[in-house]
Amino acid sequence: MKQRILKIVCIGAGYVGGPTMAVIADRCPDISVTVIDLNAARIAAWNSDALPVYEPGLAEIVRRTRGRNLRFISQTEGAAAIAQADAVFISVNTPTKTQGEGAGKASDLSYVESCARYIAEHATGPTIVIEKSTMPVRAADTIKRILSSGKNGGSFHVLSNPEFLAEGTAIRDLEKPDRVLIGGENPTAIEALAAVYRHWVPEAAILRTGLWSAELSKLAANAFLAQRVSSINAISALCEATEADVDEVAGVCGADTRIGPKFLKASIGFGGSCFKKDLLSLIYLCEFYQLSGPAAYWQGVLDINEWQKRRIAAMAAEHAKLGGGVVAILGLAFKKNTNDFRESPAIDICNQLLASGVRLRLQDERVDAKDFAAHIVDQRKVGVEFFADVAPAADGADALLILTEWDCYATIDWPALFSSCGKNPAIFDGRAIIDRRAAISAGFKVYSVGKG
Ligand SMILES: NC(=O)c1ccc[n+]([C@@H]2O[C@H](COP(=O)([O-])OP(=O)(O)OC[C@H]3O[C@@H](n4cnc5c(N)ncnc54)[C@H](O)[C@@H]3O)[C@@H](O)[C@H]2O)c1
Repeated sequence: MKQRILKIVCIGAGYVGGPTMAVIADRCPDISVTVIDLNAARIAAWNSDALPVYEPGLAEIVRRTRGRNLRFISQTEGAAAIAQADAVFISVNTPTKTQGEGAGKASDLSYVESCARYIAEHATGPTIVIEKSTMPVRAADTIKRILSSGKNGGSFHVLSNPEFLAEGTAIRDLEKPDRVLIGGENPTAIEALAAVYRHWVPEAAILRTGLWSAELSKLAANAFLAQRVSSINAISALCEATEADVDEVAGVCGADTRIGPKFLKASIGFGGSCFKKDLLSLIYLCEFYQLSGPAAYWQGVLDINEWQKRRIAAMAAEHAKLGGGVVAILGLAFKKNTNDFRESPAIDICNQLLASGVRLRLQDERVDAKDFAAHIVDQRKVGVEFFADVAPAADGADALLILTEWDCYATIDWPALFSSCGKNPAIFDGRAIIDRRAAISAGFKVYSVGKG
């Protein structure tokens, strides 16, 4: 096997593949990086000025690397690139299965498996195949099996190199990762990949483990993060009932170095494409190995998240229906600084509001509201309007429901907005980011999550 990786191919030009490969190309000018995807429109967007992924700092990196040592090409042009690659990253989606064994919980590995078949068909080897997608533990067995059935005799080593970036801070996370994790069985392959990261990541932050530990560590890390959100959200409801303040409680708990301050912000709940599906995958694995106690524990983390969304939506609906039944939704993205609304809490909350007969006025800083509305499961377009700015969205609204912590919502001029709202307007601050005093003195009723 080659000791040095000089040619990389990444299959999957999504929220992980695109930014990760852009940073590798930026930090490793000696390595040529090719990103391929089935989705031709996505590849075209990566080759344009309107990138398909919004992340602070990403556009600048793509601008200086694209055409130098970074290129985006369609799957049909990918075979030659795979044949020459020293390493191929698999960075495709691993959603929850919707049918068959484990439907509703287990990860759907069909996209990963089709990548493995594509690599087996075109690689001339020796090739390092790297799981960048989040996989259930022992998924590498399946990949190895598919690769070894290839007809052209390429030789392969499989590594697990799960990605820990968070959307919204992807570039910072990639440039200064807390850790890079490489799991594998072949020391030469592990060190070849470590050498790529050593271009900019300190050696001490490059962790090596066995394959199965690496696969499981990614699921465990996301489960721990989701668990913290559910823990503080469970406390937020108790704060509201007892007139305690969840930010004060979080500050005190987080000052304990054993707990730490991060990920203790009460909210309408976690969203995004990963936490729920990775928790479900973990629950499925526990059940598969007949570990019912651990399965129930992680299910509880998901249950609190659903409960938190439901109770806040119910409060907003109840208030809106006292007036004209109009709710302005401020924020559709699952968090700030991203245009991603996959599994956004806003989806379930909007569905619940529509089901309770409320009309919605949607606004977000980066998400196209019409695009979002197409994903509202309810599909009842009646009673949904879209706005580019906050003021027109709030016009005539009985309740303003803040669902994303975009900075611009924290600095809204409440007195200026008050007169255009409905008769008895309330703000439901699902992120606890606004200046409550300013909003109350402007005339609004104010509910902030976790504030008594
Ligand atoms: N989004 C995140 O914040 C994040 C963070 C860490 C890990 N992950 C994991 O990374 C993986 C990818 O996530 P994402 O958010 O980038 O997904 P995504 O849906 O944004 O991108 C996946 C891309 O893969 C392409 N694709 C699917 N099958 C293909 C195939 N056979 N050949 C070529 N292209 C194919 C799709 O067209 C799509 O563009 C998932 O396993 C996810 O759990 C995601």
